[in-house]
Amino acid sequence: MSASPASLTADATPETDNPPSPVIRFLRGPHLLGQCAVNPGETIVEHAEACGIRLPTNCTSGTCGTCMVSLILGEVPLPEELPPGLDDWLVEEGARLGCIGKPRGDVDIDIRPPI
Ligand code: FES
Repeated sequence: MSASPASLTADATPETDNPPSPVIRFLRGPHLLGQCAVNPGETIVEHAEACGIRLPTNCTSGTCGTCMVSLILGEVPLPEELPPGLDDWLVEEGARLGCIGKPRGDVDIDIRPPI
């Protein structure tokens, strides 16, 4: 006996049960500058632009450090090999590069570099 089309969709989860989308928040110290939904695959700089916040950039390839920000909360994975714009000490201080860093889940970013 085969299942009817109705029984195949009976267990579908209603859209209203979806978890809320992750959010990236941009701060300067204690001041919230803006926030928007995390768009997987987009960089911190692209998210900032979507929030109406302009982060300075130069090389846009992780080399110069111009776009350096501070990760306050959440996860922005690093490449296996640190790019020239970062070093171990900066990473320990929370530094991320906005031009190549892609947030994963809820993230808080201070637009100021840690140094
Ligand atoms: S703009 Fe040069 S490291 Fe990001």
